[in-house]
Amino acid sequence: MAFDKGHGENTMKQIINVDIRTRKVAWAQCKTDMLVLGRVSDESRLSGAAQALDEKLGGAIARLIKLGDCSGKAGTSAIVYGEDKIAARRVMLIGLGERKKVTLETIRKAAATAANQAVNMKLQTLSLALHEGAGETLDLAAMGQAMAEGAYFGSYRYDEFVTDTSNGRRGSLKVEVVDAAASRVKALDRGLCDGAVIGRAQSYARTIANRPGNVINPPTLAKAAVEMARGIKGLSCTVFDGRQLKTQKMGGILAVGSGSRSEPRLIILKYNPAKKPKKGTPRVALVGKAVTFDSGGISIKPSTDMDQMKLDKSGGIAVLAAMKAVAELELPIQVWGLIPSAENLPDGSSYRPGDIVTTYSGKTVEILNTDAEGRMILCDALAYAAKQKFETIVDIATLTGACMVALGQHKAGLMSNDDELIDRLEKAADASGENVWHLPSGEEYAEDMKSKIADLRNTGPRWGGASTAAAFLRQFVGEAKWAHLDIAGMDIMQKGAEYAAPGSTGFGVRLLVTYLMNLTR
Ligand code: BES
Ligand code: MN
Ligand code: ZN
Repeated sequence: MAFDKGHGENTMKQIINVDIRTRKVAWAQCKTDMLVLGRVSDESRLSGAAQALDEKLGGAIARLIKLGDCSGKAGTSAIVYGEDKIAARRVMLIGLGERKKVTLETIRKAAATAANQAVNMKLQTLSLALHEGAGETLDLAAMGQAMAEGAYFGSYRYDEFVTDTSNGRRGSLKVEVVDAAASRVKALDRGLCDGAVIGRAQSYARTIANRPGNVINPPTLAKAAVEMARGIKGLSCTVFDGRQLKTQKMGGILAVGSGSRSEPRLIILKYNPAKKPKKGTPRVALVGKAVTFDSGGISIKPSTDMDQMKLDKSGGIAVLAAMKAVAELELPIQVWGLIPSAENLPDGSSYRPGDIVTTYSGKTVEILNTDAEGRMILCDALAYAAKQKFETIVDIATLTGACMVALGQHKAGLMSNDDELIDRLEKAADASGENVWHLPSGEEYAEDMKSKIADLRNTGPRWGGASTAAAFLRQFVGEAKWAHLDIAGMDIMQKGAEYAAPGSTGFGVRLLVTYLMNLTR
């Protein structure tokens, strides 16, 4: 694959531009700013590439290891300089941990760590060979994909509103995945192209998510969706504005949006593949919560960290970016992306505690807390998807603090009415490194959401908030196979990490795309 042309979305000039390709080159001849090798912690012998380079470097790598400066522990790294003895300016060794515990996520994180450092060091070219020290158990194409995804992830920066450019950050980074053997390069290349599409989609998601509430509101989000879809074959976008939401009687979305000067929207992305889907492939609807800012409304939130509620649109944006990737990958499957979007603010026209709202499905909901707004916009979009007779519906939402309390920021909650769907999403989570944990959402929890004066209430008892929220949603999907991903907290990386810049993580893009890719295999 050649350095890619960027698939036309390089309107985000302020965001770092990554070009990625594979290259066959002898290890010592690899001309680059930094060549990156993986190193496992439980093997003293140098890998093939490290051995070849070490000979030319007069034993510098072996000495570094002997000194104990590169233990191979996951998350550690060390640099050796090329000193004109090899074509690479630097060789970076990244710890991968124990050999038998190396997963695709290990490779992805290591690539991200290297790319993050490359941007900090203002490098122009980065050459990755992390597959080389990892052993034979993982598939080369999958490792190529993981390295591409990691390279995008780690090099990502969000500084479009920083006017001081004196840090001299480069606008672009050339990344290559290298190997000395043509057959291995060929195998790596098969995954690299997919990884580049997915990596780019995730960076796109992070940028839209990182944009604050005064920039991204329901109308501007809808505009971004229309613009994104315009450039991609097979993808179209229609938008319900306030007037259309009223004629459609989408009372949930309208209620949540009623306190904001920015009208709510329902964004509908439709992907129709050029290639006919295999028999038995389901039509899938992805539904994502896009509350562009969640103040809580009349049931207002405490002010500490309220700014982070600009990320309450992350589920919707994961759907937006997944649709972009699915269409660019030209997957043979019919997929719709439904993104209900509203801003939840207190105002004289806001919906209030005690209100009874009639939703699109016809079901009525007693509002007990205006801060439980996500389910009120999702239920309209879910009922709309059910009415379109989708066999499978997957929703994704920053829905409950309770899910964060239960699972922390390591795994998203997964609730579902179908065992096969649970299995498929768990498999996609394993491969994508975006983890999920199955939680209940059945009858007992639905019982908790019954109202005496309406069909449902929008909050349950004190305990089990992630499951009662899911049980609420479950009642709007009709006969469809349905899964719900509660990603509260998963998109927020307030401090950043050695492999990621602070801000949105774009969580869910890799998970959703991997799930859909697997359906087409
Ligand atoms: N957007 C929040 C959930 C959230 C909290 C996401 C923290 C990320 C970090 C959601 O709209 C909300 O406010 N949920 C309430 C529900 C409650 C009122 C039943 C919550 O979790 O407190
Ligand atoms: Mn809320
Ligand atoms: Zn919310």
